[in-house]
Amino acid sequence: MGNVFVLDHPLIQHKLTYIRDKNTGTKEFRELVDEVAMLMAFEITRDLPVQDVDVETPVTTAKAKVLAGKKIGLVPILRAGLGMVDGVRKLIPAAKVGHVGLYRDPETLQPVEYYVKLPSDIHERELIVIDPMLATGGSANDAIHSLKKRGAKHVRLMCLIAAPEGVELVKKEHPDVDIYLGAMDEKLDDHGYIIPGLGDAGDRLFGTK
Ligand code: PRP
Ligand code: URA
Repeated sequence: MGNVFVLDHPLIQHKLTYIRDKNTGTKEFRELVDEVAMLMAFEITRDLPVQDVDVETPVTTAKAKVLAGKKIGLVPILRAGLGMVDGVRKLIPAAKVGHVGLYRDPETLQPVEYYVKLPSDIHERELIVIDPMLATGGSANDAIHSLKKRGAKHVRLMCLIAAPEGVELVKKEHPDVDIYLGAMDEKLDDHGYIIPGLGDAGDRLFGTK
């Protein structure tokens, strides 16, 4: 069964509070999401394998380490996932980026896929699916199915805030996927919004409403 990690680093928690605050405007919201995404990437990549190498310092030869194993792929779910990509790429600049476009039908709350563009070698990459919100879980669930259908073998999911319903759905449908969260919130409201949440992530990132 996939693991669920709530990343309780004080900086992540502190910044998340300001992200939730309804008085935080678009510019600051975007900057904070970028910063939290970078901090989360630091935590999420803790278990990446390394291998020993020798490196010539100006003084002598040092036994050192470099990353080994599979290369990384980032897959933001459009549109709100875009707000977290640059933050992650600051730490993993060589990561290739694929995109999955999904929106949630406001009536049915079912995800509707409208765009998929992925690196050709996703089957040999460690993929990190990125979306600020895991609400009903429909969007993340569909995005991961979509990646697996196209050959993905290793997938992790990172979200700022989740509702228990979304976590349960992804765990049930994708027991091989580890889930990394900034916070696990209480519940969903009747419109599928996370309570207490942060409102509509896409609208707050891009200033639409
Ligand atoms: C939001 C969010 C997730 C989805 C979460 O996107 O970014 O993708 O809702 O909800 P779910 O877990 O119930 O599927 P939205 O559909 O509002 O599209 P947008 O990013 O284009 O605004
Ligand atoms: N999508 C959002 O942007 N916010 C929520 O609370 C739920 C889904």
